[in-house]
Amino acid sequence: MVATAKNIVFIGPMGSGKSTIGRRIAESLSIGFVDCDQELELRLGVDVNLIFDIEGESGFRERENRMLTELCNREDTVIATGGGVVMSAANCAIIRQRGFVVYLEIPVAAQLDRLYLDKKRPLLQTPDRNEKLEALAAHRNPLYQQLADLTIQSTNRSLATMTRLVRKSILDVWTPNGRNYA
Ligand code: S3P
Repeated sequence: MVATAKNIVFIGPMGSGKSTIGRRIAESLSIGFVDCDQELELRLGVDVNLIFDIEGESGFRERENRMLTELCNREDTVIATGGGVVMSAANCAIIRQRGFVVYLEIPVAAQLDRLYLDKKRPLLQTPDRNEKLEALAAHRNPLYQQLADLTIQSTNRSLATMTRLVRKSILDVWTPNGRNYA
C-alpha cells in the first residue's frame, strides 16, 4: 500500500548495502534508521552467529519475525532488513502493509567480492560460498522482486552517488507521510 506506507524498508541479499545506504537515506531525509539484525543483537547482547549456534536458524527466524513486526509498526523510519526476511509470508505481509519497499539488487559475483572477508554471517560459514549464494539468489530474488516498490542495482558507484540515486528514485514516486522534500 504505497501511498500510505509509513516507513522505507530496504530488502535484498547479504552485501547489497541495505544498512549502509539505508542509514544514509535516513540521514538525508532527517528520519530515523534501524537495522533489524543490529537491533536484535543490541537487545540480546549476542551476535546473530551465536543466535544461530544456540537456537538454530528457526530460532533466529522467529526472533527476526517478532523484531521486524515491532519495527514496522514505527513511523517515519528507514528499516534495513536481513537478507532472509522474504522467506516468510508473514514478514512479506507486514513489510507490504507498512513499508515503501526498496530492493537493492546485486549479482552473486559482486556479493562474493564485498563479503570476501566476512566472518559474521552464519550462512557464509560454508566451503563453497558461490554455490550457497547462487542457491539463495535462485530462491529469494523472485521474492524480493515481487515485494519491491522500487528495484535499484547496487553497483560499485560511490556511496554518495548511490545515496543520491536511491533518494531521488524514492522521492520520484513516494513522499513520506505527506512531507515535502523538494
Ligand atoms: C541472512 C542475512 C543476514 C542476517 C542473517 C541471515 C540471510 O543479514 O539476517 O545472517 O538469511 O540472508 P544481512 O542481509 O544484513 O547480511
